[in-house]
Amino acid sequence: MKITKAVIPAAGFGTRFLPFTRSVPKEMIPLVDKPVIQYVIEEAAAAGITDILIVISSGKGAIQEHFIPGGPLEERLAATGKTAELAELQQIDNLARIHYVYQKELKGLGHALMQAERFAESDPFAVLLGDTVLYSGSKPVTAQLCEAFERTQSPVVALEEVPAEKVSRYGIAGLAESDGNLHKLSDLVEKPSAETAPSRLAIASRYVFTPDIFAELAQTKPGKGGEIQLTDAMKSLLQKRTFYGLQFDGKRYDIGNKLEFLKSTVEFGLRRPEFKEAFSAYLRELIKD
Ligand code: UTP
Repeated sequence: MKITKAVIPAAGFGTRFLPFTRSVPKEMIPLVDKPVIQYVIEEAAAAGITDILIVISSGKGAIQEHFIPGGPLEERLAATGKTAELAELQQIDNLARIHYVYQKELKGLGHALMQAERFAESDPFAVLLGDTVLYSGSKPVTAQLCEAFERTQSPVVALEEVPAEKVSRYGIAGLAESDGNLHKLSDLVEKPSAETAPSRLAIASRYVFTPDIFAELAQTKPGKGGEIQLTDAMKSLLQKRTFYGLQFDGKRYDIGNKLEFLKSTVEFGLRRPEFKEAFSAYLRELIKD
């Protein structure tokens, strides 16, 4: 079965990126000239996804504004012959059908996903965190996950190897058996110590779920800070069915973290052909001082 639906949780407070997030959603932070959520939606669309549900909350109106098609700006660009700029905006309008749902109380990622139950109906669907960009020089990561789902017909989560000293920040996968970079999961452990971690493979912000995740979410008790943890629901689903982890080809940028944002800005700047030469010359000069 092909995946045509995706859910993008984007309702969180973004406290790690204050004061910016007091008025602007962190999903609207730009990397060079595009907001993070546009990269995320482009990744979903590149995997063949046609319908995207964005989970939002109050104060997230800028996300909706960004995806309103047409309007006076496009008319002006057309009238003044700015065809390249117009084409770029129209390309955004044509990425996918975008839907919205409100998460009224911010009770965590698991709770955000619960808002998507009606949208998913009986279909499998992808989940992409709205504040995280995954760069891949080969195939977009959601497409890699969808292919793994099509092969296995089982839920699959993106995994990224992290250094031992960082495993205590992430949900870490235990592996039962492996076929290349696709691993059958035996366990998921939230923020283990380096000594007790079952591996160094961290859950990395992209998932494909089947609708049975919703029954698990409904039974998941709120954990730390009253939040419903998606990892807890995944852990209980793992007791009932096969669940895979895909060590994807690519790199994760969590833009909700200030240092990661700074690094991402440099790396994405250097990847842009029009800035590469001048920007790298500038950075070399800067390092000399
Ligand atoms: P984070 O845990 O990074 O988001 O969730 P946060 O709570 O906004 O971040 P901080 O810790 O306060 O800085 C990852 C994604 O899940 C969404 C966020 O918007 C982000 O895109 N999310 C999180 C929700 O949609 N609802 C929630 O209740 C929590």
